[in-house]
Amino acid sequence: MVRTQVAIIGAGPAGLLLSHLLARAGVESIVVERRTREHVEGRVRAGLLEASSVAVLDDVGVGDRLHADGFEHRGIYLHWPGERHHLDFVDLVGRSVYVYGQTELTKDLDRARDEDGQIFYYGVADTTLENIDSETPSVTFTDSDGRPTRIEADLIAGCDGSFGPSRESIPPSERRTWEKVYPYAWLGVLADVAPSTDQLIYSWHPEGFALHSMRSASVSRLYLQVDPATEVERWGDREIWEALARRLGDGENGWTLTPGPITEKTVLPMRSFVMAPMRYGRLFLAGDAAHIVPPTGAKGLNLAVADVALLAEALVAFTKGEPALADEYSERALRRVWRCTHFSWWMTTMLHASGDPFEAELQRAQLVWVTSSQAGSTGLAENYAGLPIGF
Ligand code: FAD
Ligand code: DHB
Repeated sequence: MVRTQVAIIGAGPAGLLLSHLLARAGVESIVVERRTREHVEGRVRAGLLEASSVAVLDDVGVGDRLHADGFEHRGIYLHWPGERHHLDFVDLVGRSVYVYGQTELTKDLDRARDEDGQIFYYGVADTTLENIDSETPSVTFTDSDGRPTRIEADLIAGCDGSFGPSRESIPPSERRTWEKVYPYAWLGVLADVAPSTDQLIYSWHPEGFALHSMRSASVSRLYLQVDPATEVERWGDREIWEALARRLGDGENGWTLTPGPITEKTVLPMRSFVMAPMRYGRLFLAGDAAHIVPPTGAKGLNLAVADVALLAEALVAFTKGEPALADEYSERALRRVWRCTHFSWWMTTMLHASGDPFEAELQRAQLVWVTSSQAGSTGLAENYAGLPIGF
């Protein structure tokens, strides 16, 4: 048995950043993670940080490598056949975004936590939350050496992503969920080739959406809308590059897409999901444990950062005997969660082909408005570059 102030379940971006923010305020925590550290650090996921996430990371001293090795982007391109438009977020809303892989952010956070002597349990099994509605909640698990372990804590933070046990520990009568499953998925590829663009290209095409992103000066990250039932093995490298070239407008106005060796391929299902409230008793949820967004618009990782920024403040105050912020946490976080849920749904439905000719005309009309009207482009920019944490 071990004791701490806050038991954190999950060493993804939410759990790691929370332990860091708590430590900066003098609050002790223990982090429990099902996977190995190598697995978590190597997982290729998100790649885009909005301005408010960068500000949080800078504030707590984990932004150095992000500024040195990440790419600051002023905006994005929106593309559809024959048309490419640049939206300049700096001109529109005075904020930029950073392209920086979740793998790198995870390593930065791990390193910062190691420097502070953070206690981690990696590779655990059977994580169970107990007595969450009492003043003595605990987390039990089997550690990587097979020893049954119990952490007694004042508070528990469920940062265990979309499949973790925290959310399910809240009695069904005390929670409400909303879900939308989209009729498409993304095939994501990582390729050892210099990006063919200076900023991200989001492309509508009758055959399906495509996105050109990047990870470094020599690694590109690309996505294709695919049928959710597709099997990744069915996609040969050549077929992927041909689809990307067609959908991203290779050959239009002198732009070309340079193909290269593909080093990773994954199919990502797409859904929107929200659970409320994000607190029950002494358990607080943050990040994917409470909500999932489809990836269009890159809000998943950023929402995890925003939740944790609010949650850290609330937990620190709670440990000092001031429960007001903890009582408000769910409502404050959900305000932003629903805003980003709407934005992600809106970007997704604007850019993905459904095969319905009426919807295709509506999408085109929307794209024309977003790229030609100051109000339209400012709305997209404000949401994409990120609303203030306490929105
Ligand atoms: P996670 O990163 O999921 O971390 C949760 C942690 O909890 C995990 O390490 C997990 O192993 C651990 N855990 C689970 N169960 C247990 C247990 N029983 N005991 C202990 N630990 C447990 N977002 C974007 O913005 N852009 C993208 O391109 C993008 N691509 C993605 C691709 C994939 C394949 C996935 C799955 C997500 C992607 N996302 C993307 C979403 C983004 O990565 C997440 O929103 C972000 O990781 C959320 O952070 P988190 O810490 O809340 O959850
Ligand atoms: C990336 C993913 C996204 O979903 C997005 O909207 C932008 C970038 C990425 O993985 O780089």
